[in-house]
Amino acid sequence: MKNWQKSVLWLTVIGSVVFVGSCTVGGSEAGVYRKGKVKMSVSKEVFGKTAEGEEVDVYRLVNANGVQARIMTYGGVLLSLEVPDNKGRLGDVVLGHDRLEKYLAGDPYFGAIVGRYGNRIGKGKFTLDGVAYQLATNNGENHLHGGLKGFDKVVWGARAVREADAVGVRLNYMSVDGEEGYPGNLSCVVTYRLTNEDELKIDYEATTDKATPVNLTHHSYFNLAGQGWGEILNHELMLMADKFTPVDKGLIPTGELRSVKGTPMDFTRPTKIGSRITAEDEQLKFGGGYDHNFVLNSGGRKLALAARVYEALSGRVMEVYTTEPGIQFYSGNFLDGTDVGKGGKVYNYRNGFCLETQHFPDSPNKAEFPSAIVRPGKKLESETIYKFYVKCK
Ligand code: GLA
Repeated sequence: MKNWQKSVLWLTVIGSVVFVGSCTVGGSEAGVYRKGKVKMSVSKEVFGKTAEGEEVDVYRLVNANGVQARIMTYGGVLLSLEVPDNKGRLGDVVLGHDRLEKYLAGDPYFGAIVGRYGNRIGKGKFTLDGVAYQLATNNGENHLHGGLKGFDKVVWGARAVREADAVGVRLNYMSVDGEEGYPGNLSCVVTYRLTNEDELKIDYEATTDKATPVNLTHHSYFNLAGQGWGEILNHELMLMADKFTPVDKGLIPTGELRSVKGTPMDFTRPTKIGSRITAEDEQLKFGGGYDHNFVLNSGGRKLALAARVYEALSGRVMEVYTTEPGIQFYSGNFLDGTDVGKGGKVYNYRNGFCLETQHFPDSPNKAEFPSAIVRPGKKLESETIYKFYVKCK
């Protein structure tokens, strides 16, 4: 081997060590990912008060790697989620506000728990066991995300969760018979856990004393480059869904399960969110972009991978696992710069995306969709995991 060839070889070896080193993590300062080196903790502080004078607390969860999540009792909102990038730096990947007042003034469900029925019910009407119900309508003529005062706008009870490999907060809320038009007293428990595998695990449980539709979900807007870092159109998305539920112009499903093949809805292979978003397509027109329920191939029968998202600049990957049969992929089409969020960041058009695991929208009116009716004596149990890691190129 000639001398110059040896030099090239050595430079390549040194180069790859440096590169892998920068992707593998390490460091001692705060704000840095330190695998297994951090003391796990759950701490609580007062975040503010509602107009009615109810105290709102925030729980800070820190896992053994320094990954952090902050969850407040108002709306069960995930206020921030700091996960590592490919340089080992922690960054906040969810949109939101710094102060409670901003949430109280109204926001587009940033990080909230959504219920009693997440997503839309056509005209807010349904018939159950022969009785017709009229729910509050808050999205044109339709019912959206639980109505005028959904689970995102109530104060939840809370207690800390400390386990061997996870820290968390267990939230509870009693939704009374007749609330927003729904039948039955519904007792809900939602547990957020931050595991040492860098997963945000959400467990939903609900029991009722009368049959009622229930569709609980989580409404974080993610930007894996970091909140406030601009458009999410370069994120690569894969959805484990060969079909989706097409909608009418009011975003109510028609009842059809349509193949994604050959359409801009095909995310069966990793595809940039922005690559077809401006295509001439009726469904994209109705949604103003993506705002659709995808039919998961798993059928919702067991916990299964539903989505994987990759952002190249940060190297961050987020995987979503769920026991639910559907996932709403929303590309932040209603964000328009009116929300000034954390650190003064302005949230413009498509600066965040949501992946809301769920039963299909309008299922109380679609007998062919998996049923979202919960009955007395039968507990609803559902689980969703958002898992984070980095990919080295
Ligand atoms: C969901 C809906 C969207 C929109 C957002 C909140 O994702 O499907 O249409 O309402 O919530 O703005």
